[in-house]
Amino acid sequence: MDQLSAPVFNPFEPGFTDDPYPQYARLREHAPAHEHPLGFWFLAKYADVQAMLKSDQSVELSNLGPGRYRDMTEQLYGEITTPRLGGLSMLDRDPPTHTRLRKLVTKAFTPRAVSAIEADIAARVAARLDDIADAGSVDLVAALAFPLPFEVISRMLGMPETDHDRVRELAGVLAKSFEPGVDPELARRITEADLELAGIVREILRWKRDHPTDDLMSAMIAAEDNGDVLNTEELVAQVELIYLAGYHNTVNLIANGTLALLRNPDQLALLRADETLLDNAIDELLRFDVPTQALRRITLQPFVVGDVVIPAGAFVLTNLGSANRDEEFWGEDADKLRLDRDNARAHLSFGAGSRFCLGAALARMEGRLAIGGLVRRFGGLQLDGDVRWNGRVNLRGPETLPISV
Ligand code: HEM
Repeated sequence: MDQLSAPVFNPFEPGFTDDPYPQYARLREHAPAHEHPLGFWFLAKYADVQAMLKSDQSVELSNLGPGRYRDMTEQLYGEITTPRLGGLSMLDRDPPTHTRLRKLVTKAFTPRAVSAIEADIAARVAARLDDIADAGSVDLVAALAFPLPFEVISRMLGMPETDHDRVRELAGVLAKSFEPGVDPELARRITEADLELAGIVREILRWKRDHPTDDLMSAMIAAEDNGDVLNTEELVAQVELIYLAGYHNTVNLIANGTLALLRNPDQLALLRADETLLDNAIDELLRFDVPTQALRRITLQPFVVGDVVIPAGAFVLTNLGSANRDEEFWGEDADKLRLDRDNARAHLSFGAGSRFCLGAALARMEGRLAIGGLVRRFGGLQLDGDVRWNGRVNLRGPETLPISV
């Protein structure tokens, strides 16, 4: 295939958001590292995606060089800045600010805080499985995959229940900031949702300063490193980030993971026969159908991929979903779900390098309790209709997943 006829990343291809993997396979074969006509770059192979993530490039849009992509961003948001959380969350900052924010949040988000919530999560899963048993057939997204992570993260942060519904709506709008193809109307709604959510979080933080409890927000207020603390606006952005990062992905892990098991009955049977596979199974499910398809980076210096040189200042989409299915790394059965895959944990679904997901242990725990619970409790677990996908390119997962037990 010559340069002119080589395919380019096309999230608008019919059926793409239902199943992007055939397109990724074509891109890995014919255009593993290419510049899109809209001016951004796309990486499809495991080795390149991993190298890009580990090479500590920028995430700050101010480092975008001149060109189509920069012009488009400027037109949409009026300026070159990250259009969410005031651009202040660690997800959108480079070192040294990233290092500092991450260190302070890590002081609050400890392994102890995560393991302390395990019994609570298990009880929530058990109650929801009781409801599913009573109903007989349900939409798994509404019955478990969505509410569980939302309740868990709200509870961990210490978000008052009175705010749950509105926060959930606003977080839903903000999640769209992770999608490509934002139009000016949506950009306006994202900015408005961001301001409103920040206002709610600011109020709660003000109250918590005077009434600290054993929740994550209080711990983040108290977090201190050699006299350094998070100021109010930094706190607001990190709390919002944990909300956003903390549940959309986990919803997809539970729903995509359950669907993958139901579509691969031999693997479901394998898990039923050997429960010790559960930990590895969760990682294989994360590999097989990644909750966040792509991460973005902006190159700080030219980045060489084979005979291609990505210039400095380029916007690069590193595609985790494609990397997770790369035959060159995983072998010929990369497209197969294999719960006993030896190196399943090498998936890139939690990123890599200095930004590796802070919530990976919590996410794995939720996946284990939810998916393990479903499999253990319901011998007759099966699909009960067609899955409807949420139409998202990045945070792709089922909108509804009908199951019967
Ligand atoms: C299955 C569930 C999850 C997946 C697939 C996931 C995935 C990711 C990925 C790929 C990154 C790297 C972003 C980048 O390099 O640009 C990341 C970062 C992050 N995640 Fe997760 N995540 C999940 C659950 C969670 C949970 C439950 C929390 C918190 C409660 C969380 C908190 C974070 C934070 C704070 C970061 C930013 C780290 C940094 O910038 O240094 N995530 N996550």
